[in-house]
Amino acid sequence: MSIQTIGVIGAGQMGNGIAHVFAQAGFQVLMQDISEAFTQKGLATIDKNLQRGVDKGKMSAEEKTAVLGRVKLTTRLEDLADCDLVIEAATEKWEVKKLIFETLDAACKPGTILASNTSSISITKLAAVTKRPEAFIGMHFMNPVPVMQLIEVIRGLATSEATFEAVMELSRKLGKTPIPCNDFPGFVSNRVLMPMINEAIYALYEGVASVESIDGIMKLGMNHPMGPLALADFIGLDSCLFILNVLREGLGDPKYRPCPLLIKYVDAGWLGKKSGRGFYDYA
Ligand code: CAA
Repeated sequence: MSIQTIGVIGAGQMGNGIAHVFAQAGFQVLMQDISEAFTQKGLATIDKNLQRGVDKGKMSAEEKTAVLGRVKLTTRLEDLADCDLVIEAATEKWEVKKLIFETLDAACKPGTILASNTSSISITKLAAVTKRPEAFIGMHFMNPVPVMQLIEVIRGLATSEATFEAVMELSRKLGKTPIPCNDFPGFVSNRVLMPMINEAIYALYEGVASVESIDGIMKLGMNHPMGPLALADFIGLDSCLFILNVLREGLGDPKYRPCPLLIKYVDAGWLGKKSGRGFYDYA
């Protein structure tokens, strides 16, 4: 199975990062979003992030131009019909993803692998909206995509061995480390990460320590690059709440109940870095 052309659905934080790493590894990329303004913004972010490498002497200006030249933009899902693999990184809403995969399944050539970058929606359930569940898989990239080494590769119940092997090999070609797991709520990454973040929010809520102390203790004491509250702001507090609810509903265990303080912040529109305010101020 030779994978040359990649479709990426969504030009936001994860989508443009995914397009960036594929283009940098030499693949032709078609990045789709619902408006031209979104795709242009995504491309501008790739440009900005590539420039970091140029400024540090890790990449020449010519290489940067070549990488950007491999990213084409579209607003039509049907334009991805000839891609060898399409990876979806749209908003974390079941109805949105369902429509995207129904449309892609009808449009794409036989043999196109469909992948989702979902952080917690069931791969098996998404695969079931298509007529090619054997060619459906989870490729969960971590933020910031160009920097983070891991791709969590999630096998749905019907994912074939050929699809799994092709995606493992493709991930290695990106210079990433793919690690497989099975399809259960939150997979491994968020099943382990979100309870830690939630517990840090409970510690704040119960007055155990300040934001700075909680993050300082976890950063210096556990050698984490960011404290859990800074990381929650970085991921987005709405995303953290969404994933915790998926864990609680999917696994049925009250230990995943989201902290009331997290719910309150999301209700207030304090979503972390992207909204300018969360546990920290970003104004
Ligand atoms: N694109 C490209 N490069 C980037 C970048 C981006 N968006 N952000 C940072 N970088 C690069 C910088 O240029 C720098 O490169 P060099 O090493 O070549 O100098 C390097 O990354 C480190 O960046 P900084 O010096 O600016 O900052 P830092 O040392 O504080 O690191 C960080 C920033 C990489 C984000 C680090 O704090 C970190 O690893 N944090 C934890 C991130 C994490 O846990 N991510 C997973 C979140 S969970 C998730 O994504 C899944 C989910 O489902 C919720």
